[in-house]
Amino acid sequence: MLKGKVALITGSTSGIGLAAAHVLAEQGINLILHGLMSDQEGQALAQEFAQQYNIKTVFDNADLRDPESISSFMDAAMQEIGTIDILINNAGIQHTENAVNFPLNKWNDIIAINLSAAFHTIQKSLPGMQKNNWGRIINIASVHGLVGSVNKSAYCAAKHGIVGLTKVIALESAEQGITANAICPGWVDTPLINDQIKAIAEKENVDFNTAKYNLVTAKQPLPEMMDPRQIGEFILFLCSDSARSITGSALPMDGAWTAQ
Ligand SMILES: NC(=O)c1ccc[n+]([C@@H]2O[C@H](COP(=O)([O-])OP(=O)(O)OC[C@H]3O[C@@H](n4cnc5c(N)ncnc54)[C@H](O)[C@@H]3O)[C@@H](O)[C@H]2O)c1
Repeated sequence: MLKGKVALITGSTSGIGLAAAHVLAEQGINLILHGLMSDQEGQALAQEFAQQYNIKTVFDNADLRDPESISSFMDAAMQEIGTIDILINNAGIQHTENAVNFPLNKWNDIIAINLSAAFHTIQKSLPGMQKNNWGRIINIASVHGLVGSVNKSAYCAAKHGIVGLTKVIALESAEQGITANAICPGWVDTPLINDQIKAIAEKENVDFNTAKYNLVTAKQPLPEMMDPRQIGEFILFLCSDSARSITGSALPMDGAWTAQ
């Protein structure tokens, strides 16, 4: 059922996005790969996927802080590979600092990449999905779309925002065969959190792995980080026909973090 569909995964050059790309490619889903990587590296990555999985791929490194770049990259990608059936808004960045000292440029970047970019990609993808009467929009939010943590004002604002956006899109699309959901992960083992681990290692004078364990267990009852592929598998389930009634949901995948 999913073979031959087209998925755009923003931020699929690393971490969760890259793992999700492998999971979808295994099903024969054609991919628009995207992320901050040189053109040469990105084309090589796209070619690798195409050969390994016998699918169509395109790559683009549009900077998601720029709405015009998003629009033109999506136009070009859809021209080449077809309209988008599955949209996964995954790209994101983090910066930690208390609100008083939070740098304005970091605030603006986090809101642009982690929230506004998803609005722009949804606006561009929805008309094609409406025409086909089928679509899946999956926004990678975070537990920080459900609860707050100190030093994460911009990240929590963006992630709570994307949960709200998801709900509205689900309501507006409910009669059109399109579902919109947000996945809210706890700790996932990706480069995104390395700075936070290094800061703990320095502060507590412990090695990287001890700092990683301390970071996870400070908030999350399940004392281990998630493998990014677990999120890919959850995404695949949300794309399936069995999940067609799951829409407008913010779905925690967080080792009981938000059960407390
Ligand atoms: N790692 C975690 O513990 C965790 C937990 C909850 C939610 N998340 C969310 O999951 C998503 C993926 O994060 P990850 O952990 O895989 O991070 P990552 O750092 O491994 O990957 C981030 C991706 O976003 C892309 N990106 C960053 N800035 C960009 C920009 N300006 N323009 C275009 N692309 C840009 C990068 O190129 C990369 O492909 C993010 O939205 C993040 O907030 C992560």
